[in-house]
Amino acid sequence: MSRDTADIADVVAGLHGAESALAGRTLLLTGSGGFLGRWLVRTMDHLNASVLKTPCRLIALDTVAPAAEITAGLARPSQVSFLTHDLSKPLALPDHVDYAVHMAGIASPAYYRAKPLETLDVSFFGTRQVLDLAKRDGARMLYFSSSEIYGDPDPKFVPTPETYRGFVSSMGPRSCYDEGKRIGETLCSVYATQFNLAAVVVRPFNVYGPGMREKDYRVLPNFASALKGGRPLHLYGDGRQTRTYCYASDALAGFLLALLKGRGGEAYNIGNDAPEISVIALADRIEQALGRKVTRAIVKHPADYPADEPNRRCPDLAKARGELGYAPHVALEEGLRRYFAWTDATYTGVQ
Ligand SMILES: NC(=O)c1ccc[n+]([C@@H]2O[C@H](COP(=O)([O-])OP(=O)(O)OC[C@H]3O[C@@H](n4cnc5c(N)ncnc54)[C@H](O)[C@@H]3O)[C@@H](O)[C@H]2O)c1
Repeated sequence: MSRDTADIADVVAGLHGAESALAGRTLLLTGSGGFLGRWLVRTMDHLNASVLKTPCRLIALDTVAPAAEITAGLARPSQVSFLTHDLSKPLALPDHVDYAVHMAGIASPAYYRAKPLETLDVSFFGTRQVLDLAKRDGARMLYFSSSEIYGDPDPKFVPTPETYRGFVSSMGPRSCYDEGKRIGETLCSVYATQFNLAAVVVRPFNVYGPGMREKDYRVLPNFASALKGGRPLHLYGDGRQTRTYCYASDALAGFLLALLKGRGGEAYNIGNDAPEISVIALADRIEQALGRKVTRAIVKHPADYPADEPNRRCPDLAKARGELGYAPHVALEEGLRRYFAWTDATYTGVQ
């Protein structure tokens, strides 16, 4: 079994049978061309080919046309329709949908810093359109918010539970993303209370894994590109800001559990709660995972990177574990080994 197939099988194992509700249904996925979207496309294809009695039809929407390797690699291509559309423009979808997974968004700081209005447009208008569609069809909807809605949390609230209200600037360099995600959550909450819609929110915490673009500019793709190009790893600021990292197969299981079992109008943290480590310690873990010395340099934040970086980030997972049966299990070193094996084979070393 290839690593790729093993990872997708691991996603399905994490669902404990909840996936059977997808049989014979139609699922709309927005943001299908992105890192997490591609993982879900592959998971749905695997479910259709090997698990579900009746296939689940997938409508995969993104502004970018699907990459050749995705379409060519599908085992059940007839079950997937790709739709190229910008969700900040009106969407008329005649198809009935049973599930709507709304991932579309401008996710990486370097990109949302450059496109703040587009970031806000897809957060508000895009989310509203997907909610209207879900309302029209009585569909279950999963909205991709972010751990960033917590802003820079008071250390008393780290690990951070869903009840923490956040410490966020409405006018800072990150606000287009953070406040955009927050208004998306508010929309989900309004549709849940006003229309009894099963609109469930997930707040992912630093998901990583094969499939992240080299020019994604989040920390691990930056490190992987530097390693491939023989450059030192650049640690921004003082390198002491802490994060937890969640391997994609664990996170995907969490997202699907939230879609299938989450309560409407509720938010669920999805990520890993250990280890919470500094960026310096992450570089150490990479050394351990790869079994070789890795050079690094502490540098100022680049001009195109938004300031106001949160100091700490770590989820409290009690709600997701208790209500959804979410149980991430891929250890950091193991996930890093898998990710760097993939980047070594696919990245060019040039960003
Ligand atoms: N990966 C993470 O660790 C993480 C953490 C927190 C939140 N999230 C959220 O999860 C979602 C998916 O993240 P990702 O890592 O796959 O991001 P990504 O940038 O790889 O993918 C996002 C996709 O959305 C598409 N998109 C952007 N604007 C659009 C628009 N107007 N209309 C249609 N499609 C549009 C992009 O083309 C891209 O393919 C995002 O909403 C992101 O904010 C991700």
